[in-house]
Amino acid sequence: MIKYQHIKLQNAEYVIKNNIEEFLSSTECIYKCNEPLSKHTTLGIGGNADFFVEVQTEKQLINLLKFTNENKIKFYVIGGGSNLLFGDNGYKGIVIKLSNKKEFGHINFFNNTDTETKVEAGAAVNLAYLAKYTAEQGFGGLEYLSGIPGTIGGAVYGNAGVKNCDISSNLYEIELTDYFGNKDTLTKDKFNFQYRKSNIKNAIITKVKFILKKADKNDILQTVFKEQQTRKKNQPLGTKNAGCIFKNPLNDSAGRIIDSLNLKNFNIGDAQISDKHANFFINRNNASCADMLNLINFVRDEVYKKYKIKLETEIKIIK
Ligand code: EPU
Repeated sequence: MIKYQHIKLQNAEYVIKNNIEEFLSSTECIYKCNEPLSKHTTLGIGGNADFFVEVQTEKQLINLLKFTNENKIKFYVIGGGSNLLFGDNGYKGIVIKLSNKKEFGHINFFNNTDTETKVEAGAAVNLAYLAKYTAEQGFGGLEYLSGIPGTIGGAVYGNAGVKNCDISSNLYEIELTDYFGNKDTLTKDKFNFQYRKSNIKNAIITKVKFILKKADKNDILQTVFKEQQTRKKNQPLGTKNAGCIFKNPLNDSAGRIIDSLNLKNFNIGDAQISDKHANFFINRNNASCADMLNLINFVRDEVYKKYKIKLETEIKIIK
């Protein structure tokens, strides 16, 4: 009986996968089957996604969402994969990424005055690129974000930022497509932005609009340069990491707290705490999601034992 049920389940899975592939091949989306998610996350960890789809246009996105909704197919949307930890068993369903080759990769300036400009950026634009690009045109506001990896969509979703400056500070409007495929444009006040979070749910950010102030180009570029130098000095750039693993507790730094326990360089398997910044955990080579989770849980327990502080992860864990 058990064996029979197992065969039935396998068949059902087979039929669903076939339907998905048939649908995807009828669209212009670029897709891959059994795609390693380790290739799409900066941590370099994650098993295979059943399907990995790069969506080029809003029309494709809407069609895909209508299909997933009608057929009750699980999906997950990624940006630059810089804040993500996928499980070793990968993702059963569709992982969607907005391509930066077409409309989701565009940057446009508009309503330019002597003192300010509005700029709209597709969700797949690289945040560091936008910060540098706007700085080069003499517009300030995003320069502090120039060292943050990832896309605009992902950064806005998680309200990425540095000390005293979040991406939500300069944005005023967001275009989204909800999980049923309906488009909407909403002003910033609808999203209740707080430290490293927004209340954006069940919707995909497709475009973000900012207001930026005109400023001296050299001053802004100098800030971009300084920001990047500070990062180079304090953070393990060039390694496989996901930025800060934990959010900062109020008025403190999770990195400082972990460091105070002398945990720099501590490792479990190939997952290791950076020797430069203790809130950065590195995949030395072949770390599994299990290694990384064990390290995260270990650190959380040690911090709690010593300080009674409950650290909360900043990265998203998808298993
Ligand atoms: N510190 C240590 N040891 C460490 C790390 C930090 O003693 O291993 C000390 C530093 O010396 C400093 C203080 O802690 O006195 C704060 O450190 P840092 O300036 O690096 O800032 P942070 O609070 O640890 C935050 C953001 C970073 C962002 C930096 C710089 C969070 C969780 N982290 O880190 O953002 O780059 O400020 O603006 O909000 C990220 O979000 O992924 C991220 C990397």
